[in-house]
Amino acid sequence: MGDVEHVTTGQSGATVTRAAGTYRKESATDDLLGEAARLTWLRRQGIPAAEVLECGPGLLVTAEVPGRPADDDWPPAARDGVVDALAELTRALHALPVADCPFDRRLAVTVPAALAADVDLDDLDEVHRGWSREQLTAELLATRPAGEDLVVCHGDLTTQNVLIDPETLTVTGVLDAGRLGVADRWLDLAVATREVTDLGGEDAAARYLRGCGVEPDPAKQTFYRLLDEFF
Ligand SMILES: Nc1ncnc2c1ncn2[C@@H]1O[C@H](COP(=O)(O)OP(=O)(O)OP(=O)(O)O)[C@@H](O)[C@H]1O
Ligand SMILES: [Mg+2]
Repeated sequence: MGDVEHVTTGQSGATVTRAAGTYRKESATDDLLGEAARLTWLRRQGIPAAEVLECGPGLLVTAEVPGRPADDDWPPAARDGVVDALAELTRALHALPVADCPFDRRLAVTVPAALAADVDLDDLDEVHRGWSREQLTAELLATRPAGEDLVVCHGDLTTQNVLIDPETLTVTGVLDAGRLGVADRWLDLAVATREVTDLGGEDAAARYLRGCGVEPDPAKQTFYRLLDEFF
């Protein structure tokens, strides 16, 4: 047997294995055809998304993206560079023309999807720890923002899903685009700032937002982090 490495079993039950320069993602529940369509679309827009080599309803094979995940244990001197690379990627993604994007993650789509989703109450962020399903839902409905500042969002912009060249500290590729679509920019920024805070504290999160050219928006940040609990 060749060199096959089990990478992860995702929260949604996706299994990822690595072999001979490719990553094979298999899932009985994720829409991997949808993810393949989004990765391919993103790549055509000039964003370095992983190249799709093969796909089917429960299968997605991508070419290995070089580099290290942005959530790696970076030396302190590299952290600003990683944050800046994440900001640059976010800026480029959010600058894509909304009218050209065939995928929709507006609140009209995501709130009903959230209400129908299975929520893992044992895997909530610290601020929501101990909350019931009913509390989460009530808060989501009560704090839904009136307006949406629409851009093309990745939809799961975690530091795990972005790879960085350790020499140049530039983004080599982006993965896991199954929830990409048009949405308020805070769908991405809420998750990314949470992750960047884990990487380098509040200063890093502020640096990231400056790099994105966006003012803080505590209400949207709180709402979109809550929305993320449902997926
Ligand atoms: N093409 C690729 N190049 C390099 N690394 C990859 C590639 N595809 C997957 N990986 C690695 O496998 C990990 C898991 O893949 P991915 O993010 O697609 O699945 P997941 O997070 O488990 O999925 P889901 O969130 O849908 O359950 C990534 O964080 C990355 O480390
Ligand atoms: Mg992932």
